[in-house]
Amino acid sequence: MDLGLAGKRAIVTGGSRGIGKAIVETLIGEGVAVATCARGAEALQANIDQWNAAGATAYGDAVDVTDEAAFNAWFEKAVDQLGGLDIFISNVTTRIRSKGVERWRDTFNVDLLQHINASELALPHLKNSDAGAIVYVASIASVMTANMPTETEYGTMKAALVSYGTQLANRVGRDGIRVNLVSPGPIYHEGGFWEMVEQKNPDLFKMAEKVSVFRRLGTAQEVANSVVFLASPAASNITAANLRVDGGAIKTVNF
Ligand SMILES: NC(=O)c1ccc[n+]([C@@H]2O[C@H](COP(=O)([O-])OP(=O)(O)OC[C@H]3O[C@@H](n4cnc5c(N)ncnc54)[C@H](OP(=O)(O)O)[C@@H]3O)[C@@H](O)[C@H]2O)c1
Repeated sequence: MDLGLAGKRAIVTGGSRGIGKAIVETLIGEGVAVATCARGAEALQANIDQWNAAGATAYGDAVDVTDEAAFNAWFEKAVDQLGGLDIFISNVTTRIRSKGVERWRDTFNVDLLQHINASELALPHLKNSDAGAIVYVASIASVMTANMPTETEYGTMKAALVSYGTQLANRVGRDGIRVNLVSPGPIYHEGGFWEMVEQKNPDLFKMAEKVSVFRRLGTAQEVANSVVFLASPAASNITAANLRVDGGAIKTVNF
């Protein structure tokens, strides 16, 4: 199947490792020019150098998505570098260390508000594309009532993100823009949350393996494949979808 992505231009937030990096590399493999950001300059630059050395068109700068002024400036710079925008992938989450109300506020900023801010920046550019698409990386934590105590705020904000994205799909469909979400289950990747759990809490790790019908965690590439498909013209009649990539972990009928 030809995804129809060659020559398209994409911004992906948080592309320096994990799922975001797999998304960037999958887009590049399909002939897409990509701009990405992360806070850590070193890892980001090393990736960008490697991608460009291999023939890609990749840009990126160290910027915090929750620093609105800096992020907004970077976003417009990235659109200029790319010469326009066809695809926006909103992928960032951050491990929050604060507690109580501060934790709610920090999680709101990183797991909801910055996605909305970035979307509003992307929309005017996507309207000028003949294949405008947004994909959010959400989480199955959005539908779970038995999240880890540390994930209460995260699950709540991801649920709000699914609601926001689905409503946005309705709002911008007439502009030819599709909006979809991907909700991963536990995903194992180098330097990621579940690698840390594997080392520090092997019982929890085993539990995460067992919730999948395949008795394993997912991979970043499996998430990226779904994100890139939904972002592509091959998914031209799909909008307002929330695709679970969780190995069947959520035991409800997904009507
Ligand atoms: N891994 C899982 O099991 C899993 C499960 C369900 C859903 N998800 C979702 O999948 C997405 C990606 O998860 P992941 O596991 O790949 O995360 P990750 O390993 O923590 O990577 C996050 C990426 O975003 C960047 N980043 C973090 N905070 C940032 C900020 N404030 N501003 C700019 N960049 C920032 C990171 O680089 P810096 O740290 O250098 O900034 C990194 O490139 C998230 O939306 C997450 O909620 C993940």
